[in-house]
Amino acid sequence: MDKLVIEGGRTLKGEVSISGAKNAALPLIAASLLAPGVHVLHNVPDLRDTRTILRLLESLGLSWEREGTTLKIDGTGLRYSEASYDLVKTMRASVLVLGPLLARLGRAKVSLPGGCAIGARPINFHLMGFEQLGVRCDLEHGYVDAYIDGRMQGGTVYFDIPSVTGTENLLMAAALAKGTTIIKNAAREPEIGNLIDMLVAMGADIEGKDGDRLTIHGVEQLKAAESRIIPDRIETGTYAIAVCAAGGRAVINNCDPGHLPSLFDKLRLAGVDVEIGTKSIRINADKKINGIQAVDVTTMPYPGYPTDLQAQFMALMTMSDGLSVVHETIFENRFMHVAELQRMGADIQIDGRLAMVKGLGRSALKGAQVMATDLRASSSLVIAGLAAEGRTDISRIYHLERGYEDMVGKLTALGATVWKEDE
Ligand code: EPZ
Repeated sequence: MDKLVIEGGRTLKGEVSISGAKNAALPLIAASLLAPGVHVLHNVPDLRDTRTILRLLESLGLSWEREGTTLKIDGTGLRYSEASYDLVKTMRASVLVLGPLLARLGRAKVSLPGGCAIGARPINFHLMGFEQLGVRCDLEHGYVDAYIDGRMQGGTVYFDIPSVTGTENLLMAAALAKGTTIIKNAAREPEIGNLIDMLVAMGADIEGKDGDRLTIHGVEQLKAAESRIIPDRIETGTYAIAVCAAGGRAVINNCDPGHLPSLFDKLRLAGVDVEIGTKSIRINADKKINGIQAVDVTTMPYPGYPTDLQAQFMALMTMSDGLSVVHETIFENRFMHVAELQRMGADIQIDGRLAMVKGLGRSALKGAQVMATDLRASSSLVIAGLAAEGRTDISRIYHLERGYEDMVGKLTALGATVWKEDE
């Protein structure tokens, strides 16, 4: 296994270009199961997770080819309806094949994803939604075996919690159902709007995009279409926070600042100079001029502060000038990065879903050997390593490679001293 090594204490400067969004690419790749023909997807990031879902689609009979950041996926060859445990266990988002398989074949047997580092990750809302559309879902031997005789029948689906992949799964299922489906308390993340745009381009009839109530008028069939993946807002936020933590000034290009309304408010409260362009962001966090102010943050569904940027912001708060309260309301166990940050000298106390972060100033952190536990926790350790005095070794960086394209190259271009080593 590889580890990442960072010689900290260097300020960041220059430009970084953002890749396509992992959490848009996964549902849009899954949507190619809905129709035969060649689907064309532009701006697709090359990540461990996108490679995993493409392997899953191959196991279902589809073929694909990549030309740079453009993917061509041929949905014609779909003939199997089972997603095996060894693929699903590595990536929970594999459950996104449930909706399209039920819509296209009326049958889907998918391993239950199981938990992961950040929580139990149940899919009860997904299954309850399918049952509202007439599907029978049996749970046995760690698999969900879903079946419907003929087409799904439109119905009303209510999510207790606005589940992102739950909304995406039901959108894909309802697109080919008979009649109208209404999804209430739907998630409103930008990645869902990206999926709706692709489904509409394929011939779906969907109203209410970007809102919490979606109306889908089912159609008989869909056709392959051409789509573009939106920029990755979590990658964008990760680099913005990294520049603030390491100090310096940088321009983040090929992003959509409109998808991060809450982050920039938080960074400005922390005393950082943030200039918003239409497709770029300029961050000025020269550490000689100002310290980092302590700021509280509570994670919420979009457009609230993203849970996927909680760990990164916490790393920044460890070097603030005061006490910051971080409240994680989405996942029950998303503080795995805390113990590793503490090894680097951070002063953090956890009480349930609250973390009290006592900022120890710009020179708070010292390099150490730490371990990545999940995707966003690993990016939090990278940010800490960039700001820390001395060398930081981060093991198990396969977690990082699930969701960040060429992070070593992008950080090196910003002036960081970082490299991969065989562990
Ligand atoms: C998506 O996960 C993202 N993944 C996650 O990003 C992100 O953290 C999360 O949304 C929240 O924004 C992808 O889009 C591939 P949820 P998802 O269903 O859909 C509970 C990353 O780092 N819940 O919105 O799995 C659930 O336990 C990843 O890129 C149920 O109880 O999240 C959680 O507490 C991590 N039953 C809450 O709802 C269900 O059936 C929100 O989960 C579904 C969810």
